[in-house]
Amino acid sequence: MTSREISTPPATPRTTPPATCSPPVPLRSGIATDWMLDPAITFLNHGCFGARPRVVVEARERWLRRYNARPIELLDRNRNELLTEAKRPVGELLGMKPENFGFVTNATEGVNAVLRSLSFRPGDELLTPSHVYNAVRNTMRHLIERAGGTYVEAPTPFPVTSPDELVNVIAEALNDRTRLVLIDHIASPTGVLFPVERIITLCREKGVDVFIDGAHAPGMIALDVESLGAAYYTGNLHKWICAPSGAAFLWVSPEKQRGIHPPTISHFLDEGLAAEFAWQGTRDITPWLCVKDAIDYLAALGWEDVLRHNHQMAMWVQQLLSEKWGVGPSTPLDGSMIGSLVSFPFPGDVSRFDDPVQLHDYLYDEHHIEIPIFDFGGQWLIRTSSQVYNTPDQYERLGQVVLDLMK
Ligand SMILES: Cc1ncc(COP(=O)(O)O)c(C=O)c1O
Repeated sequence: MTSREISTPPATPRTTPPATCSPPVPLRSGIATDWMLDPAITFLNHGCFGARPRVVVEARERWLRRYNARPIELLDRNRNELLTEAKRPVGELLGMKPENFGFVTNATEGVNAVLRSLSFRPGDELLTPSHVYNAVRNTMRHLIERAGGTYVEAPTPFPVTSPDELVNVIAEALNDRTRLVLIDHIASPTGVLFPVERIITLCREKGVDVFIDGAHAPGMIALDVESLGAAYYTGNLHKWICAPSGAAFLWVSPEKQRGIHPPTISHFLDEGLAAEFAWQGTRDITPWLCVKDAIDYLAALGWEDVLRHNHQMAMWVQQLLSEKWGVGPSTPLDGSMIGSLVSFPFPGDVSRFDDPVQLHDYLYDEHHIEIPIFDFGGQWLIRTSSQVYNTPDQYERLGQVVLDLMK
């Protein structure tokens, strides 16, 4: 990797006092049966690909039947009207004007759309913290190195004790060669919630654009995209909004929209962001048409209640498992640096497993627990997710299975 070396900032002392926290009350009885998930599996991995309630799957089936009955009508004559209608609740929920965003298939595509649209010169740098998602890392490296520039991955602490640490990482790494800073709103391997507003302010003062990768943010935290002040924001709708796989968006600030195109150039080149992203060649647009159904399902539970439930569960899980496993919390126990994902260094000796996949497979095959294990710079992390269908006993079981494994 031709990354520039940057020293890791000193970790600030851990001062968080232990808090007592209880699991949330379920939002409604029998909520798990709303979902398509197999009850034989303890599903603690909403984070990877989301999951969908039955009503969303049924809505998708209806759209597919309609498309297959009248393909030209849906994908050609009615497309613009349908997509305008599909964008409305997304824009309202996430604070985006319809002309400033378009649907994409996933966050990786959103990142590619922007980075492939920008032109980089030899000497330019693309900067991101080391909590970056690997597919995004590869995209950044590939495109900047192709232009003769440098990919800079700033070593970023984990565990992390305060937002200041994360702001300092970026402050130290910025320089006059930095063309763009890409920040995960909520990091994939570590679940850390980045102080994106502060980082955007810092970068703007230096005249550097910020791209927020919000793959996990929509539906996990309250979000008002346009007020953040980023140049670009991509987010998934198929994770925490629970839309069908293939639903995501890319928002671009009005002053940056010129020259930003989807990765697939098609009929509506240079006709504006919304027009270009509404047609990216023949593809299945039904996941986009079902986002409204997913939003309606969660809205009926109460958005604030959903966010509070999942966050409270995550805080409780953090306390429960860090104490049980003796690993110490990876972020402050007050929950200020997490949403609904919590990562822990895997406790105990993992030498009997060749790699994280083998450990994952052991938990899945032997105990029917679906949970991801990541290799984070040589450290194995286990990451829990909390969604409305999860119950405290699932995490208690995970805690015991891992303890037994350490014996
Ligand atoms: C931070 C981050 N960025 C990008 C992605 C990629 O999302 P997708 O597979 O929907 O493109 C993920 C997936 O988990 C992620 O966590």
